Amino acid sequence: MKYKNLIIETNDKICIVKINRPKALNALNVETTVEIYHCFKELENDDNIDVIIITGEGKSFVAGADISYMKNLNAVEAKEFGLSGINAFNAIENSKKIVIAALNGFALGGGCELAMACDIRIASTKAKIGQPEVTLGITPGFGGTQRFPRLVGVAKAKELIYTGKIIDAQEAERIGLVNKVVEPEFLMEEVLGMANKILENAKFAVRYSKEAIDKGLQVDKTTGMYIESSLFGLCFSTYDQKEGMLSFLEKRKATFKSK
Ligand code: HXC
Repeated sequence: MKYKNLIIETNDKICIVKINRPKALNALNVETTVEIYHCFKELENDDNIDVIIITGEGKSFVAGADISYMKNLNAVEAKEFGLSGINAFNAIENSKKIVIAALNGFALGGGCELAMACDIRIASTKAKIGQPEVTLGITPGFGGTQRFPRLVGVAKAKELIYTGKIIDAQEAERIGLVNKVVEPEFLMEEVLGMANKILENAKFAVRYSKEAIDKGLQVDKTTGMYIESSLFGLCFSTYDQKEGMLSFLEKRKATFKSK
């Protein structure tokens, strides 16, 4: 499928999805949220891809939802727009692929919400991150009130959402919002390095780990443990579990089939 506001690059198990509206600092209009949704649905069925990297073209990751687009929406249209982003970001979060956000610049409002739907966030020292919606007279609307407290804790999420304060990459790392901060010129190298490290491991073990963590967070701990034990058991139906354990005992490097 051809996308107007996304650039897609595929390279041996890794797909890079670049949000491409640099004149508006990659702000998300409904056309773009719908494209993100379709792109992730398409990638979900692509067996050649195991890791997806999301980044932004130019100096911004995503500077939020498109304020010019949102300005005159009525309540029903605004709700629909919010849902278009929620659906797109849920498609990312629920993807069986591992998704890494490469935060190359502004990740504000909907941009921060997009990053939080990913499994891992790596930021350049130039990244600026926050949920400034209250300064525009609105609440976060692409999942921020739900994902932010789950990621950094209720107290910090409330502080940053109520104040609309924008933080730098180092502060974001300190509060656990991003995994790592690197100099801008090393951002893609770092992210690709992490993607390749993940790809070295048994594919279904990684996938089931994601499923256990994400599904487990939606339910009580006892049910979460049940999900974990079921997925742990399922690993024993794979070639890679046999190969992984045999290679350890034979003191050699594993050659996983599902790579
Ligand atoms: C529409 C945007 C935009 C946005 C930037 N632009 N952010 N357009 N929506 N979110 C446009 C500017 O209007 C400008 O267009 C061009 O991009 C460059 O932006 P500048 O402001 O000139 O750049 P700079 O001085 O570097 O400032 C960068 C910035 C600032 C700090 C990121 O642009 C900014 O504060 N943007 C808004 C950030 C924000 O509030 N995001 C949250 C949105 S609400 P022109 O045509 O003048 O060149 C949200 C809700 C999500 O995300 C949920 C919805 C349901």
